[in-house]
Amino acid sequence: MSTTHKQIGARTAGAVHWQRFAVPFEYPVHFTERVFDPDNPVFAETVSRLEPNRRHRCLVAVDDGLLAARPGLCDEIAAYAKAHDGTIDLVTAPIPVPGGEQIKSELYFVEQMQKTLFDHHIDRHSYVIAVGGGAMLDAVGLVAATTHRGIRHIRIPTTVLAQNDSGVGVKNGVNLRGVKNFVGAFAPPFAVINDIDFLRTLDLRDKIAGMAEAVKVALIRDGEFFVWLERQADELAVFERPAMARMIRRCAELHMHQIAHGGDPFEMGSARPLDYGHWAAHKLETLTRHHLRHGEAVAIGMALDARYSVLAGHLAEGTEERICFLLEHLGFRLWHPALGNKTTGGRHAVLVGLQEFREHLGGELTITLLSDIGIGVEVHEMDEALVLEAVSWLEARESS
Ligand SMILES: NC(=O)c1ccc[n+]([C@@H]2O[C@H](COP(=O)([O-])OP(=O)(O)OC[C@H]3O[C@@H](n4cnc5c(N)ncnc54)[C@H](O)[C@@H]3O)[C@@H](O)[C@H]2O)c1
Ligand SMILES: [Zn+2]
Repeated sequence: MSTTHKQIGARTAGAVHWQRFAVPFEYPVHFTERVFDPDNPVFAETVSRLEPNRRHRCLVAVDDGLLAARPGLCDEIAAYAKAHDGTIDLVTAPIPVPGGEQIKSELYFVEQMQKTLFDHHIDRHSYVIAVGGGAMLDAVGLVAATTHRGIRHIRIPTTVLAQNDSGVGVKNGVNLRGVKNFVGAFAPPFAVINDIDFLRTLDLRDKIAGMAEAVKVALIRDGEFFVWLERQADELAVFERPAMARMIRRCAELHMHQIAHGGDPFEMGSARPLDYGHWAAHKLETLTRHHLRHGEAVAIGMALDARYSVLAGHLAEGTEERICFLLEHLGFRLWHPALGNKTTGGRHAVLVGLQEFREHLGGELTITLLSDIGIGVEVHEMDEALVLEAVSWLEARESS
């Protein structure tokens, strides 16, 4: 530690002691199948990773939408715990929590979960395990991050989007006053377990929606992966398991690589390198009161920013069509009437999203555009007239 004395004339302005330390974060992301089959050791081994040979107190929250599709799941989890009794101590039967954006819309759910943790004497060495979609993982992750200043948290994502993107990352949060993720925390999980078998019961809409993040990360980081997605589009469009498994794994890897090696895992700077297509997407989610899924909104946001990239001279004309073609082939619709909404002041509502995007991050407006397939480029200004031109282009495509 160094101490600096700053002289102002003859007077000493003060002293500063620089505090500096680094804490390495690491967590495994497992890819497995039938995680709660008693013969599958992954979950039990995950729980006992740091302290084998003892029982670990576990509280499991389960997405109620998932439960509706797979009513026996709580019993499966209880049976698994019983079979691994020497390792897993379920403090209570698995607790259903609201799935989907509903759980993120009210702080009430966060408080209610914290009360449950209090009632069951969950301490910092216990585990809070969340089994479900990205929305409930975001909310339960926030609960785990903030209760006792951080409880061990294991995510078991059950949607395409949560397995290939949100569930493997470090962000948790809920919405407030209609602003996405207004209340949140960066908190890496203790472990993530991806089980592709969960996707069997997923709605068609959610299966498609989750693929948007794969197209996104391919577009900004990995041109070869984009070409692979194009070649596998027929298989992906009907959710063939080997293609889905490979898509999810590659997308998760690219996401994890960005967090570990991108230089800014907790997004202290102005850039949000993984958020291509997201500024408009976040606004569309709010404008449609979440009738659009996150991935559906991201697909539209990516198409919009691809056309904008062309109009602003960053991307070769025609590349935006190639991107739109892939997205449509996978099942996305690239237009929503909310893109035409106006505010009471007569301003195009979508443009307000630019300001909100900057405010959420703080610092300088930073938007990722494309200079080629696989290469993102950051800009700090968006020409509003060109954004509206890109919106009109999408509308014209829709009606042609
Ligand atoms: N933390 C991050 O880094 C990050 C990144 C991207 C998106 N997100 C957030 O993730 C959320 C979207 O997550 P999502 O796309 O996973 O959707 P979701 O969590 O909203 O789930 C969609 C629906 O599927 C149900 N469900 C979940 N698993 C199921 C299964 N296996 N079978 C049947 N039904 C199932 C849910 O109950 C819900 O009704 C948004 O809130 C978004 O902001 C977070
Ligand atoms: Zn996203």
